[in-house]
Amino acid sequence: MCGIVGILGGGDVAIPIFEALKRLEYRGYDSAGIATIDNGEIVRRRAAGKLNALHEKLGAAPLAGRAGIGHTRWATHGAPIEENAHPHATDHVSIVHNGIIENFRELRDELAAKGRNFQSATDSEVIAQLITVFVEEEGAAPIEAFRKMLGRVRGAFAIAAVFAGNDDLILAARKGSPLAIGRGDGEMFVGSDAFALAPFTNRVTYLDEGDHAAITRAGFEVFDGSGATVKRRETVSSASDAMVDKDGHRHFMAKEIHEQPEVVGHTLARFVDPTDASLLAFGANFDFKKLDRLTISACGTAYYAGLIAKYWFEKWARLPVEIDIASELRYRDIPYAEKGGAIFVSQSGETADTLAALREAKAHGQRIGAVVNVAESSIAREADDIFQINAGPEIGVASTKAFTCQLVTLACLAIKAGADRGLLSKDEQSGLVAALMEIPRLIAEALQQEAAIEKISAELSKARDILYIGRGVSFPMALEGALKLKEISYIHAEGYAAGELKHGPIALIDEHVPVVVVAPSDRHYEKTISNMHEIIARGGRPLLISDKRGIKAAGDVWAAIEAPDTHPLLSPLVYAVPVQLLAYFAATAKGTDVDQPRNLAKSVTVE
Ligand code: G6P
Repeated sequence: MCGIVGILGGGDVAIPIFEALKRLEYRGYDSAGIATIDNGEIVRRRAAGKLNALHEKLGAAPLAGRAGIGHTRWATHGAPIEENAHPHATDHVSIVHNGIIENFRELRDELAAKGRNFQSATDSEVIAQLITVFVEEEGAAPIEAFRKMLGRVRGAFAIAAVFAGNDDLILAARKGSPLAIGRGDGEMFVGSDAFALAPFTNRVTYLDEGDHAAITRAGFEVFDGSGATVKRRETVSSASDAMVDKDGHRHFMAKEIHEQPEVVGHTLARFVDPTDASLLAFGANFDFKKLDRLTISACGTAYYAGLIAKYWFEKWARLPVEIDIASELRYRDIPYAEKGGAIFVSQSGETADTLAALREAKAHGQRIGAVVNVAESSIAREADDIFQINAGPEIGVASTKAFTCQLVTLACLAIKAGADRGLLSKDEQSGLVAALMEIPRLIAEALQQEAAIEKISAELSKARDILYIGRGVSFPMALEGALKLKEISYIHAEGYAAGELKHGPIALIDEHVPVVVVAPSDRHYEKTISNMHEIIARGGRPLLISDKRGIKAAGDVWAAIEAPDTHPLLSPLVYAVPVQLLAYFAATAKGTDVDQPRNLAKSVTVE
């Protein structure tokens, strides 16, 4: 997704806007730009590529002006070239946009027929052109023209606009993509999230769905979808300036992998009472006793967290779980249970497909729970119950610490479900909670294998294709391992249920294809090891991830990574670490851009 910043400042704003864009670069990063109002005129600098390209341009040709907007782009319509970079501008207005204008083709045809000259291949430019038509043809004031534009565009968006001849006005709108207004001393800010605004202010007001706002240095007015003036609550954001720091690590991903013992502990503290290993009270609206069926949905890594949780809900709460990726679930004609519940898992809380699937489930009367990292996010706002993880900002595009925090949260939910439904005794509950409380320590122990994993990864990075296999809860772990690897190292990888290997993928095995075997000493261990021997018999190269006992019993393997002993069903919480480190070091061995891999975005707010 793209990142938006706008500032009405006391002095020149281009450099502060650039600094804020740096904090948003993780969202999208194929081009960027800034527009300011200088002596009444719109002036812009834009550049394809990462932000340093824009930095060079600003260095060579600085921008003056006390009002401005900026944008980092993740291309949807139009290639990532300078002409398509935001802000888009006409003589009257300059805009930045996050999201998609669904009816842009019809609007573009209509505007082209009126003689409007388009300078980009983007959907976003229709916003600037529409506003201009209303200003030029109807003599509309900026706010009127902006409203008329909002009346014409369909889709999901966040927009900020500045106007020629007025350096004390930013107009902004939110529909489907978040937007926050920050209040400073005699200065005002607008941004995609509180994180972008953290260096300037912590007094933040989030626009609601369908709102638009007129912002001046003196203050701002918010209007709802009907145009009525509304008050939105100002909050004191806890996003701090320091969070963008890599803390001595080479990459955010490395920092975030290493943060896991701490943030998993923080997340756990939201749900359990460590003094007696019991669950705290949470999820008041989510009564598992009354549920006949649970639906879980998410995208990417969050989906794999959900897939692991399915095993827990079924085992501990005997609750049937329907799980699907959000982009599929939302279009299936699901016979939802009458007294059903649905849990949506999302780090950002803004993923468009997950939000749409949530709305679909809600429309079918399901009780909605959201496992999110960002408390003010759209998914959190639309849920009946929020189960907030405590991962802190995750900047690396490949999700790591959010995954383990999602898992620990879902584990607590599944234990609560078992308790609510009378299926777990007090002793069983505290046994599981106690096992969860061990996880931060075990993650720290797993991290100690880092040097060994780096060595193995250097070998792994030479492969063109890699398979990951596992059974039970290690099956989703295999899927997540393959996803992590392909995301950041660009090595083709696939995850398979170990038992499925013989039904096709085994045809791929030869001495060039390493197979990562995720096999803790649980009840599936022997079967998975048999599958591993089928690989060895065909000249394949197994890399076994198991505990000491498992590695010893397995016999000769190409390579092994030792993981600490865990509760059999909770092993993914610990095995996530070697799997993440393997991908990380394979990527660094290949020299790819680990934190901002090509073509990906941190959170995808388009379908
Ligand atoms: C993108 C990211 C993934 C993430 C997925 C879901 O594809 O690259 O790392 O797992 O979105 O994001 P969410 O914010 O909903 O967890």
